Amino acid sequence: MIDLKFDYSNALDTINQQDVIDFQKEINQHYSSLKAKTGKGNDFLGWLNLPSEINETLINRIEELAEEIRIKSKIFVVIGIGGSYLGARAVIEALSHSFAHLNKRDGNPIVLYAGQNISEDYTSELLTLLDDNDYSLAVISKSGTTTEPAIAFRLLKNHLESKYGKLDAKDRIIAITDKEKGALKQLADEEGYQTFIVPDDVGGRYSVLTPVGLLPIAVAGFNIRELIAGAIKMKDHVESSTYISDNPVSAYAATRNALYNAGKTIEITVNYEPKLYYFTEWWKQLYGESEGKENKGIFPAGVGFTTDLHSMGQYIQEGLRNVFETVISVEKPSHKLRVPNDKKDLDGLNYIAGKPLHEVNHMAETGTTLAHIDGGVPNLKISIPNISENTLGQLIYFYEMGCAISGYILGVNPFDQPGVEAYKKNMFALLGKPGFEKDTEEIYNRLSL
Ligand code: PA5
Repeated sequence: MIDLKFDYSNALDTINQQDVIDFQKEINQHYSSLKAKTGKGNDFLGWLNLPSEINETLINRIEELAEEIRIKSKIFVVIGIGGSYLGARAVIEALSHSFAHLNKRDGNPIVLYAGQNISEDYTSELLTLLDDNDYSLAVISKSGTTTEPAIAFRLLKNHLESKYGKLDAKDRIIAITDKEKGALKQLADEEGYQTFIVPDDVGGRYSVLTPVGLLPIAVAGFNIRELIAGAIKMKDHVESSTYISDNPVSAYAATRNALYNAGKTIEITVNYEPKLYYFTEWWKQLYGESEGKENKGIFPAGVGFTTDLHSMGQYIQEGLRNVFETVISVEKPSHKLRVPNDKKDLDGLNYIAGKPLHEVNHMAETGTTLAHIDGGVPNLKISIPNISENTLGQLIYFYEMGCAISGYILGVNPFDQPGVEAYKKNMFALLGKPGFEKDTEEIYNRLSL
């Protein structure tokens, strides 16, 4: 039984129930074409069965290696960009202590990230930190040719080798890449690094349940079996019925498309738990890269409340009426903390003295939802009982399947990303990469350099 619930009743001021139900027939067809692999992007459907097909040998290998890394490393650096780091980061940050970097009590290595930007300051400061701490790293790139992680890996590989010597450094590097193609695969073979494979039929943003996500999550000290078990729960549920009334994925895909057709072109994912910040980032990539093409698609945005009620809250309440929001609502916190009583009550807070903070947070959530509905912002709600490996596994599969069905409703291929090449071509031309000579000339003329 899944624990995740989906509620679209607070969108029914903008759309009718019938607008949602009208998608049923189409949704059934899309599930069938996913199953039969007859839809767009059908070479990239490996994620569909990942949770149930992952084998014990692979899980054991990941867990054993993670334990080795945990013993010898205070820091584990994940080098990757886009789908090659966001899934791991989403799960690790959701499950970690909020101040993990300062909290030495759990004994888990701190996971840090590199190669998700090209900032000289960010990378220099990371290298300085690594001077004084034992560390290992995973370099993750399916293509094995992405510029950002390749630059970071050059720097960190040199750093590791000068810190530990070439032989020991080799045992601190894990490469996660294609089974045969790409520069990273070649380097890993030549240097003798431990490697894991990113399956051919799984795109980066759908890869969190492969070693891409599972190894860093295990190194951080979390239970990958439970994460997979959560995803299996959702998979089984989705497969048992495609009906919008029973299946939260169908309901989510139908509702967001009904809202899009009603002019709501921006979806804001809302959390009231700061630990979910990177989960929203993962979702933004999954939906933005999957749907934003052919001049269409819902723009995925994210906010953290109540923090952003003091910034973006104004726009959401009264700005352009083209937004809807989807709240990821967590029913139970992991800690207990109540608002204290104060004799003087100068701040006037005694009326809530004794209440758990979570109850106050929950009232903020309910109050905000109502205010936003009144302001013309339809509200979708995804509830999970708590933040755990199991519920995150459910959420991951929910969102992946929702993205595939939504993308098909929109009529796009949710598994490619042709648009991300445009910036690369310009950057390579500007940097004078061999093979881009004509583009270099053109771009320099355009910039009058
Ligand atoms: O979802 C995707 O496919 C992308 O975001 C990729 O993950 C990202 O561009 C990194 O690619 P690679 O793993 O080949 O370095």
